[in-house]
Amino acid sequence: MFSSHPEPPPELGADLELDPEEWASQHTYTLIGSLVVPRPVAWVSTIGADGRLNLAPYSYFNLVADDPPHVMFSSIGAKDTLRNVRDNGEFVVNLAGRGQLGALDKTAESPPDDSSEFDLCGVTAEPSQRVRPPRVAEAKAQLECVLVWHAPAGNGHVVVGRVVHIHVHRSVWSDGRVAPALYDPVVRLSRRYGALSAELTPEEAPADHALAQ
Ligand SMILES: Cc1cc2nc3c(=O)[nH]c(=O)nc-3n(C[C@H](O)[C@H](O)[C@H](O)COP(=O)(O)O)c2cc1C
Repeated sequence: MFSSHPEPPPELGADLELDPEEWASQHTYTLIGSLVVPRPVAWVSTIGADGRLNLAPYSYFNLVADDPPHVMFSSIGAKDTLRNVRDNGEFVVNLAGRGQLGALDKTAESPPDDSSEFDLCGVTAEPSQRVRPPRVAEAKAQLECVLVWHAPAGNGHVVVGRVVHIHVHRSVWSDGRVAPALYDPVVRLSRRYGALSAELTPEEAPADHALAQ
């Protein structure tokens, strides 16, 4: 028994020590999801065997290599995105700004009929350069990916893809790079959304080279 509390107490009289196996899964989900923040959100577009387009947000998402670039996301349970990626090996990570947040949030629901989430949330499917799934035209940037590896981990299924094409919208570029304040991607914070518009001042932050990873 490594845990100090059998369930989340309203207040902590002493630090929490937890073997995650000892809490009900809903409590562990809430705790870990509020600790690993902010999480970038991959708005993943895929295409089904029947040609139907699919679009859904995944905040269990990150960069795993940069030469060549590789990204990962994790599907909690068997979902359409995972099925499509396993079937045809391709996906696009669309990176949304604040302007697309309403649409992105809507795509966490399944469309009522045979329509796709692109229709449900009213975004434009634009042809990709290197893969069959289209990209979301309104997104600030898009990473076209091919599947290199997938495997289960806990209740998740991890998908790693190699980025074969990168598209950056001209509006987020300034002074030779992606300008954080212009890009301002939406992120997942605990149960809320946030944005990265506030950069730390040079006095608050360590030098850039210390931040390489
Ligand atoms: C902001 C946000 C982030 C999400 N992140 C994940 C995630 O990382 N993994 C996951 O399995 N579901 C995640 N979901 C839920 C899926 O988007 C949802 O189950 C969706 O219906 C899956 O669609 P699909 O079946 O078309 O792939 C997230 C939902 C939201 C709103």
